[in-house]
Amino acid sequence: MPTAAPVPFITAAACSVNSPIGTAPAARRCFVIYRAFTRLSIYARVREYVLLHGSATVRTSASQDVLDYAFSRGHAYSPTDSRTQVCESARVDIHTRIDAVRKRAADTLSGRIIAVESDKGGLGKTTLAVELAYVLDAVLIDLDWHDGNAARALGWRHEQRARTSPLLDALAAGRTPRPIKGAPSRPDLVPGGPDLEARQPSAHDMAQALVEWADQWKRPVVVDTHPGGGHAANGAAEAAHLVPTPCPLTEKDLAALDGWVDVMDGYPLMIVPNRVPRVPPAAQLGWVESIADRYRLPVASPVPESSTWLPRRKARTAVCSARSLSPKSEPLVDAFTTIAEEVVEHV
Ligand SMILES: Nc1ncnc2c1ncn2[C@@H]1O[C@H](COP(=O)(O)OP(=O)(O)OP(=O)(O)O)[C@@H](O)[C@H]1O
Ligand SMILES: [Mg+2]
Repeated sequence: MPTAAPVPFITAAACSVNSPIGTAPAARRCFVIYRAFTRLSIYARVREYVLLHGSATVRTSASQDVLDYAFSRGHAYSPTDSRTQVCESARVDIHTRIDAVRKRAADTLSGRIIAVESDKGGLGKTTLAVELAYVLDAVLIDLDWHDGNAARALGWRHEQRARTSPLLDALAAGRTPRPIKGAPSRPDLVPGGPDLEARQPSAHDMAQALVEWADQWKRPVVVDTHPGGGHAANGAAEAAHLVPTPCPLTEKDLAALDGWVDVMDGYPLMIVPNRVPRVPPAAQLGWVESIADRYRLPVASPVPESSTWLPRRKARTAVCSARSLSPKSEPLVDAFTTIAEEVVEHV
């Protein structure tokens, strides 16, 4: 399995991606391969371009093993030499990709726990957790007690339920909860509910329960958490095989990330750059690079900024469940699917 450790970076100066046709719209949409991301992301950038334009010519100073890795990912690439590679075809339907990643997750992530966590609020945990759970066909466990949580985002309203916490009921009874079925447009869900704040189990008990439940379900489990830890979130981190931590590329969020990775040293964090503009700020990319380097952390493919569409979206479904994609949803669905693919490879 390839490691997702930071690679020798491709610098913007040494790398360009050009449309073979060279039309003006293609040139405008031409992206710079991020110098700060991992080999997984380098591959994703190339693929994104190929998806947009059908093919791309990549000139890069990347080492041969980075390129070999990209070529081994199932698309039709025809290498010419180590510095100039021509990538062709690769218009893979997104639903085919989601089906494929679900099959691989069922084979390799059974009983595995992915806990989405961060120190700070509002960074994109719930969005990432819902989408990852959907794409991986995982059980989503909601350990956030606030009403901006995953359960409410998926249409579960605790105030309409006699029992307000399927999760606390299961913990109290010492049994495995039965997830609420979400198909076809939501992940299966175990809500925590508002009482969880006052009645959190100890970190140890939470970790033990999550491990037992994941074993019983024989499925991947994705956990959404309340920002800043707490017993339940700490237990999820203890049990987790991977802790994706979303981070927008802003000064404040990166400063918070810097402190958070230090507190979480030893846990299997994966940095997920979120709300990334088409041309990401170089200084902030450098900061991500230095954090990832210092702690030997993998960096996932970036989630693009969706300035108004995502925050205003009212549907109580996973974005990735849409049967037809729009120009606004497609980059997000592609990004979340790519991150799910990376999770499968990494865990
Ligand atoms: N890539 C993105 N582009 C634009 N908006 C985004 C993106 N990701 C998340 N958001 C928006 O940011 C807001 C916060 O997202 P979300 O609820 O997922 O964060 P959170 O970390 O779970 O917050 P909390 O810590 O309060 O639970 C939401 O309005 C969401 O739609
Ligand atoms: Mg949240």
